[in-house]
Amino acid sequence: MCHPEAVTRLIAEIDTYLARRDGPGIKDVRDGIARSAGEAARRTAKAAPPSCGHLDEALLAMAGADALRGAIEDIRPQLGWVTYDAYPRAKIGERFPRAHAFVTLIGGAGFIPAEDFALGLFLIAPGTLYRDHFHPAPELYVPLTGPHEWRFGAGESWREYPAHAAIWNEPMQVHATLVRRQPFLALYAWTKDVEGVSVVAAAPDWAEIEARL
Ligand SMILES: [Fe+2]
Repeated sequence: MCHPEAVTRLIAEIDTYLARRDGPGIKDVRDGIARSAGEAARRTAKAAPPSCGHLDEALLAMAGADALRGAIEDIRPQLGWVTYDAYPRAKIGERFPRAHAFVTLIGGAGFIPAEDFALGLFLIAPGTLYRDHFHPAPELYVPLTGPHEWRFGAGESWREYPAHAAIWNEPMQVHATLVRRQPFLALYAWTKDVEGVSVVAAAPDWAEIEARL
């Protein structure tokens, strides 16, 4: 179980970090943190390291946000990393289920939600395509490592984003992430409709992309 003061400090560092960023969704996430942060200490997730590994490497690769990195490192032994298991294996592929992990700081299982909001950390191992998918929740990702590539619809072209560039996904917007050599460590937030399930959106080029990773 996370020590409440360590969770509170990490959430405060996330808020300070977000206050320095611009773009769609940042204000929504900061509003969600302001409404919900007091509830974080109720979480009872059991401590577990990320099953995909690569957290050491990701923290080493994280440059330009030292206070936030320090807060993650301080609470790290207490974090309960889990995997997102709602995708059918036949659609999400064999790799993704064992190549990612996330930890919820506000919202999620074991939490008594005061608000319809979720905030946490998301990790993806190098050499992974997080296939195209969509969900009802509006979503903010702020990768703390990078660069990584994103596309916003099957058949759309990939675009590289550096670390600290925020990605905002409107509800039901299809998105996919391509993680090459650098592990992907990001802040994530769902600003509402957090009960909605994420759904894989078929694309014809997964096998070709994955064969080259
Ligand atoms: Fe998403």
